[in-house]
Amino acid sequence: MKDVYILGIESSCDETSISIVKNGCEEIATTVLTQMDTHALYGGVVPEIASRMHTENITMVLEDLLKKANMKVEDVDAIAVTYAPGLLGGLLVGVEFAKVLSLVYDKPLIATHHIAGHIYANNLVKKMEFPLLALVVSGGHTELVLMEDDYKFKILGTTKDDAIGECYDKVARVLGLPYPGGPNVEKYAREGKHTYELPKPMDNDELDFSFSGLKSAVINLSHNEEQRGNVVRKEDLAKTFQDVAVDEVVRKTRLAIRKEKGNIKSLIVAGGVSANGYLREELTKLCEEEGIDISIPPLRLCTDNATMIACAAYPQYLKKDFADLSLHAKSQEYFFKDSKVDE
Ligand code: KG4
Ligand code: ZN
Repeated sequence: MKDVYILGIESSCDETSISIVKNGCEEIATTVLTQMDTHALYGGVVPEIASRMHTENITMVLEDLLKKANMKVEDVDAIAVTYAPGLLGGLLVGVEFAKVLSLVYDKPLIATHHIAGHIYANNLVKKMEFPLLALVVSGGHTELVLMEDDYKFKILGTTKDDAIGECYDKVARVLGLPYPGGPNVEKYAREGKHTYELPKPMDNDELDFSFSGLKSAVINLSHNEEQRGNVVRKEDLAKTFQDVAVDEVVRKTRLAIRKEKGNIKSLIVAGGVSANGYLREELTKLCEEEGIDISIPPLRLCTDNATMIACAAYPQYLKKDFADLSLHAKSQEYFFKDSKVDE
């Protein structure tokens, strides 16, 4: 079969990124331009600034990528772009840019979901073999999903309220840590001890998650300490929170592995929170104990990038799942919306 080169574009948050990937699993070249330092000045991503910076930088990012890849847009087989979810202004920049490339160079256009990107980044580690169990841990998702084939998902467990990444970001805010929240909570936790008492979320054997109680407990504990005139030991509270949150994810993942034992070949981990060192270690230990393979993308592919988008677009390309020029960016679209929910 002829090799397929896909040019992927990602601009849903604060990274402008373009990449070319061969056959959905071999990275040819990637450029990522992060706006993190700018947004850090404001304590979080400022949507208006983000979209302006994407607009200013996207052409330069493409030029840099093509130079690195030593290719021309003419050489690729399709243009893929993150169309949802994220900041609308940023998504629009990527979607309109992709449409122009598709039109000018007469290439098929592929609309790829950001979470599919996080999942398919695992094909760069090792070709995914189905059925597998996917743990999706991001700013908007906390899911255990049985993946029966490409783009065939069955949700085994999901969060009833907050996503784990959202919870990390809120805890960072409460502790007064700078943006980006998740990585800074992890950094503080590394220096801390588990000295505080926080409730265990959902003390049951269901596969669903709930993090809002844990989040509220961190907020209340922090306020109570302040009211009593006590200094909150940020490192220790970060460590206590991280232990409880990660242990819950690992505990539920173990339950899901056991439920699907004999069926699944491996666990893949996806989403921004999979950059967390403690989670990576604990999941690796878990899979050793349970005797199944584990795949977690390298750190640079856990955070937002276009490589993962070009990977996720490959099965869409094979199915000729193409978009046309009426494609719209969507700030919100739940990825697993068409999935079968386990009864
Ligand atoms: O997957 P992602 O880009 O979010 C969505 O697409 O929804 O991941 C971003 C999330 C943020 O909540 C961020 O705080 C969290 O991932 N995150 C981390 C770490 N790095 C990123 N959380 C904990 N530890 C980290 N090292
Ligand atoms: Zn992401």
